[in-house]
Parts: sequence; structure tokens; C-alpha cells
Amino acid sequence: MKRTAYILTTACTSLLLVLGATSASAQSAFAKPEDAIKYRQSALSVLGTQFGRLAPVVREQAPFDAAAVQKQTALLTQLAALPWEAFGPGTEGGKARDDVWKETPKFQQAATNMQTAMAKLDDAAKSGDLAQVKAAYGAVGQSCKACHDSFRNR
Ligand code: HEC
Repeated sequence: MKRTAYILTTACTSLLLVLGATSASAQSAFAKPEDAIKYRQSALSVLGTQFGRLAPVVREQAPFDAAAVQKQTALLTQLAALPWEAFGPGTEGGKARDDVWKETPKFQQAATNMQTAMAKLDDAAKSGDLAQVKAAYGAVGQSCKACHDSFRNR
């Protein structure tokens, strides 16, 4: 009897440990899938708004202030890193297509491509050369679109 109780206790403890470890890694910082969806939509919304602020400069509808543009690209580089932790396992939903979870390596590659393009935009801003900023800005826009075409519902 005693031995059975011991085995049961040990088994229960192990199971709890396993469950604890699983939920910690799968859920990461978000208690509920809805929280992850809200977080990534917010992060992408801020990214979109801040990225759009450079559009008038790139279209030469606003003066090119190299220092201001560089401040903005530094911010964008940070923002570009935020959304991805909120696409973890079990967080299907929002406007994200299920392909995000079916073709995860492809999705992650698209996220990396965008961040690489954003880092190049930051480099271009540091050069102080508007022509370089324009080209790099266009490349970032393409990298956003490439992912949306494959992984976002309209
Ligand atoms: C790796 C894929 C990927 C990349 C790269 C990407 N997006 Fe998205 N984006 C998504 C997905 C998926 C959604 C839908 C998220 C959801 O609803 O859960 C989305 C949603 C959005 C939204 C709507 C947010 C809202 O209000 O719900 C905006 C705005 C946006 N993205 C802007 C951008 C911009 C700007 C870039 C490039 C600088 C970019 N995205 C790069 C995948 C991507």
C-alpha cells in the first residue's frame, strides 16, 4: 500500500512538472491566446504607423532631415523585433492564416527578412543619403508585403 502511494505521488509530481514546463514554453509571456493576438496586432499596428511616418520624406513631400530620419529608423529597428514572440504555438487567430503555424520556418524566415531589411534602412539613414534611404525604404515595404501575401488574410 505504502509503495503504491509513493509511486502515485511521484508520478503525479512528475506529471505536474511536465505540464508546468510545457505550458511555460508553449504559452511564453501570454496567459491566453487572445492576449497574444492582441499583443501582436498592437505591435504591428504601431510598426505600421511609425513606418508610414517616413513615407512623406521618401516621396519628397517633406524635407529630408537626416538626424530625424535616423532617430525614426532606430525606433523602427526596435519595433520590428516585437511582434514575433506572439505567434507562438496555439495562438492561431486574428487575421493570421493557419499557414503561420503550418509553415513556421517559412514564416520565421519572412520575419527575419523584414528585420534584415529594416537594419539596412537604419544603415542607409546613417549614411545621410536620401537616395539610399529611398531604396532601403522600398525594400522594407516589399518585405512586409511578401509576408502579408503569404500569411495574412485580407
Ligand atoms: C513575417 C510576416 C510579417 C511581416 C514581415 C510583416 N507582417 Fe504585418 N502582419 C502579419 C500578420 C500575420 C498579420 C495579422 C496578425 C493578426 O491579426 O493576428 C499582420 C498584420 C499587420 C497589420 C495590422 C495590425 C492590426 O491592426 O491588426 C499591420 C498594420 C501590419 N501588419 C504592418 C506591417 C508592416 C508595416 C510590416 C513591415 C515593416 C509588416 N507588417 C511586416 C505578418 C507580417
